[in-house]
Amino acid sequence: MNPLPTSQPLQARPIAEPGTGPVGPGDAPARVDGRVKVTGQARYAADHGAPDMLFGVVVNSTVARGRIEALETAAALAVPGVVAVLSHLNRPRSRRLDLFYKDMTAPSGSPFKPLHGDTVLYSGQPVALVLAESFEAARHAASLVTLRYAPLPHDTDLLANLERVHRPSRLKAGYSPPPQPTGDAQAAFEAAAVRVDAQFYAGPEHHNPMEMHASTVLRDADGHLTVHDKNQGAQNCRWVVSHVFGLSRRQLTVRNAYVGGAFGSGLRPQYNLLLAMMAALQCQRPVRVVLTRQQMFTFGHRPETWQRVRLAAQADGRLTAVLHDAIAATSRLEDYVEVVVNWSGQLYRCDNLRLRYGLVRLDQYTPIDMRAPGAAHGLHALEVAMDELAHALAMDPLTLRLVNHAERDAARGLPYSSKELRSCYAEGAARFGWDRRPPAPRSMRQGHELVGWGMATGQWDAMQMFARASAVLHADGRLVVASAASDIGTGTYTVMAQIAAGAMGLPLEQVEFRLGDSTLPVAPVEGGSSHVTTVGSAVEGVCEKLQRQLLRLARELPDSPFSGARWSDVRFAEGAIVLRGGTALPYPRLLALAGRTHVQEKYLMLPRLLQQKKYVRAVHSAVFCEVRVDEDFGTVRVTRVVSAVAAGRIVNPRLARSQVMGGIVWGIGQALHEETLADHRLGRFMNHNFAEYHIATNADVHDIEVVFVPEDDRIVSRLGAKGVGEIGIVGVAAAISNAIFHATGRRLRSTPMTPDKVM
Ligand code: MOS
Repeated sequence: MNPLPTSQPLQARPIAEPGTGPVGPGDAPARVDGRVKVTGQARYAADHGAPDMLFGVVVNSTVARGRIEALETAAALAVPGVVAVLSHLNRPRSRRLDLFYKDMTAPSGSPFKPLHGDTVLYSGQPVALVLAESFEAARHAASLVTLRYAPLPHDTDLLANLERVHRPSRLKAGYSPPPQPTGDAQAAFEAAAVRVDAQFYAGPEHHNPMEMHASTVLRDADGHLTVHDKNQGAQNCRWVVSHVFGLSRRQLTVRNAYVGGAFGSGLRPQYNLLLAMMAALQCQRPVRVVLTRQQMFTFGHRPETWQRVRLAAQADGRLTAVLHDAIAATSRLEDYVEVVVNWSGQLYRCDNLRLRYGLVRLDQYTPIDMRAPGAAHGLHALEVAMDELAHALAMDPLTLRLVNHAERDAARGLPYSSKELRSCYAEGAARFGWDRRPPAPRSMRQGHELVGWGMATGQWDAMQMFARASAVLHADGRLVVASAASDIGTGTYTVMAQIAAGAMGLPLEQVEFRLGDSTLPVAPVEGGSSHVTTVGSAVEGVCEKLQRQLLRLARELPDSPFSGARWSDVRFAEGAIVLRGGTALPYPRLLALAGRTHVQEKYLMLPRLLQQKKYVRAVHSAVFCEVRVDEDFGTVRVTRVVSAVAAGRIVNPRLARSQVMGGIVWGIGQALHEETLADHRLGRFMNHNFAEYHIATNADVHDIEVVFVPEDDRIVSRLGAKGVGEIGIVGVAAAISNAIFHATGRRLRSTPMTPDKVM
């Protein structure tokens, strides 16, 4: 029996910030929106309302494919309080152009249009909306709507249709196609002495944020509509609603001030929004539509994915061939892409590389991004295959990664903008105690449990989009910064206020960051872990413009000590503009002397694409974990996880650690619990509730340690930050799979690794 080390206390280390001063007061302030959230004052989409509001309840199709032959609403309309039943038969007219239906994150294809016709394209498709004076009446009446379908044959089975694979011709913005092959991977694979050839399968998974998707449409006195909607980008939703219903941005505002988690499910406007808008326009009344937990399984998921990974290596562990094929499910409507295989051409050094990605169209709804889309599955397969290769080589799995560590990506030869992955390995291994790992499987046991240690590498893209921000510094020293960003539980309110406070040298309490409103300066959806690099850089940029304006004002004061002062002669600290030598002019005094009630600026942050394109930009992690497997029952407990993350400069280690911990918990879910199972005879997801769709809960989560290794990347963003959000999940399921192998000697290649597979 080996000594199983107890884990270190949970901690995250702040990073020194060269040249920029503190990010904000204190290393890791708690959420500025924490109090309003825990006291129930934060109002989410369904918390808004009006006295004359109608409640909408959605009726969903029960067939996977077909036509609606009859739709009976008399019984529903007879329920007291029911006002209308909207369906394809009586919906209000709206613009129909595909072009204008596309949201900013839409994949190629033709987006689903609720209530547009009698065609049913997937099980769970919304086919009617019941509107009533009370939620109870609407819900009851919805159960009385009857439909008769002329069903058509459907196909929802990916594995039975792999031969129907097609290569998507157009990819969504932000996704690159798999790179061209390099060398001759097939020949190198066949010639190699040590090989791994493994197939992987993962079923669909659903997001399940705590807050259900909901939309509340309110009518203001002047006829203006304000929509409180759960989403990851208020402007993306405003854009779609405007074009679908022919409303200008002056007639319509979308807000998402508070969002109870989304994880990708809110990147696209969901059908509740379009239905609520349709009803509000038809009935000329405020409307609220809230989806049920079951209906949360009817508008997008992480796609079912099949993969094959072939690796070949020399006896010293150097990779000589990497072949990675992935085939994922999509809908008949759209080609949802997440590419899956691309990271396999970036992470390790290899001259012979072939990556292929394809889709199979099925009679289901279009998948949608879910935390680390593509990488969660793709790197799972690669990292389990790497563990198999290490075993075949009789080499330590961490050593194998180090032998193949890449400073440039194998596919295109580009260098990394920064890659402190070696530090992740070193720091993570040290904290975990990896050097005490006995190499052979089944060598650790405690009581009736087999104990295993596994590790894996994680990678996620470090992205930057474009954004605007505005800033107003008031005469009393208050700073208000705004951008139409989102805070989906990630801490945007807090970190943006920190960035502004740090730049201006103001206490955090004096800074307010406004977000979640489509009328604010343009910002992208909160997705891809890019909000800090994007909106954060815009915030820092607008603060710099404000500083330059303050310097001009200070210079122009009569008998100013700042007269003739240059930019390099001043700094901004402790609420004042400070001249070299120490003369400090507090902002309120400066504005008073200048006769100004406030100063304001706007700033457009555009990524420096030409420079960025010369590099691979990514965040990395090294995940180490311990599992205990009950030999009799096949149950797995993940008793220890250490994740060491290199994500550039960390703005707020407390919140970043929360992000990574959440990702690790979800990785435990991916590894052990999560899968949406379809009955292919019905073409329907069957376990659409928390009783049967299992997620990791308290009893599944034990010691988790998150470490941020020092890194600073000014190519990805002027802040040096690279983004933290998705990286937490990547590699976790692979590390668990590899630990299960180490515990039991059983190699599991499909998720979730339920007891029936472990036994
Ligand atoms: Mo995330 S899947 O980019 O919302």
